Amino acid sequence: MLEELRRMREQAKEELQAVLNLEALESWRLAYLGKNGAVTRALRSIGKLPREERPAAGQLANEIRQELEAAFEARQETLRQEALAADMARGAIDVRLPGRPQSLGYLHLSTQTLREIYAIFAQMGFQVLRSNEVETDTTNFQLLNIPPHHPARDMWSTFYTTEPGVLLRTHTSPGQIHAMRKYHPHPIRVILPGKCYRYEQVTVRSEHMFYQVEGLAVGRNITMADLKGVLTHFARQMFGPERKLRFRPSYFPFTEPSAEADIDCILCQGKGCAMCKYTGWLEILGSGMVHPNVLRNGGYDPDIYSGFAFGMGPERLAILKHGITDIRYFFSGDVRFLHQFA
Ligand code: DAH
Repeated sequence: MLEELRRMREQAKEELQAVLNLEALESWRLAYLGKNGAVTRALRSIGKLPREERPAAGQLANEIRQELEAAFEARQETLRQEALAADMARGAIDVRLPGRPQSLGYLHLSTQTLREIYAIFAQMGFQVLRSNEVETDTTNFQLLNIPPHHPARDMWSTFYTTEPGVLLRTHTSPGQIHAMRKYHPHPIRVILPGKCYRYEQVTVRSEHMFYQVEGLAVGRNITMADLKGVLTHFARQMFGPERKLRFRPSYFPFTEPSAEADIDCILCQGKGCAMCKYTGWLEILGSGMVHPNVLRNGGYDPDIYSGFAFGMGPERLAILKHGITDIRYFFSGDVRFLHQFA
């Protein structure tokens, strides 16, 4: 019996060494330590042995049981550690692999152009001031010297809200009133960027939503020469140091005198081409000396103060600069267009 028990112990240990996974380990446990396992059966059979053999056999069988239980636990722990290590190795990050590229966003061409404009005017001490896209008939028109039924309103059809007299601004010019009322009676040098809205047919040259950048300077002894100096510097920074600027007499209700500013054509250098319609000039903005009524509406006495203003469309400038053929590309959401300016 003792011999048999020892053999069983050796065999069990050998088999345990060959166990390579937790399922096989469980089969081994059932075979030796389970209810019908070899060790359990041996312990049960002790009672049937002759009396004198029982103590030695009982002691050995119990020792074997304890030994195999300890061996089982050790093996189980080893296999668990191995399984965990293998798991970690499989799920591990291979740091040598190149990372997945993040798709980076980029600025919309309108935003890029706006920022270029801010930077140029910042050189001349203009700060950026923002005001609402929803305005009233009073600020969008009347305080800018455009009374109800004035024919100039035809140039600025807009979207009205259900609230009487509340509308989407047609230009950034109402910002002039807000700036003057905010800073009165101090001198002002601001640019007013933002979206504007027009109720009109969308074509190659016009959108119902677009950006504008308004400029306003108010102070003592400001003249048209200041306006021309500022705009010339702007044009040269934006379109190249050799640019020429010319004023063409024009009409806006909120300026007197009014002028449209043209630069010599950036494509043909003023010789005449399809881009400038063979005139040699490209219109870039509207401008003028702030009308006395508008100064007064802003709280400035026109006998003491004067000022100049201008308004430009960044999309229009970008169109000229990049030779874009259709303003509708800007807000149609086609990334093939936008990506060219990434
Ligand atoms: N508000 C004008 C427009 O939308 C542009 C403009 C012209 C603005 C002359 C000005 C200005 O400040 O002086 O067509």
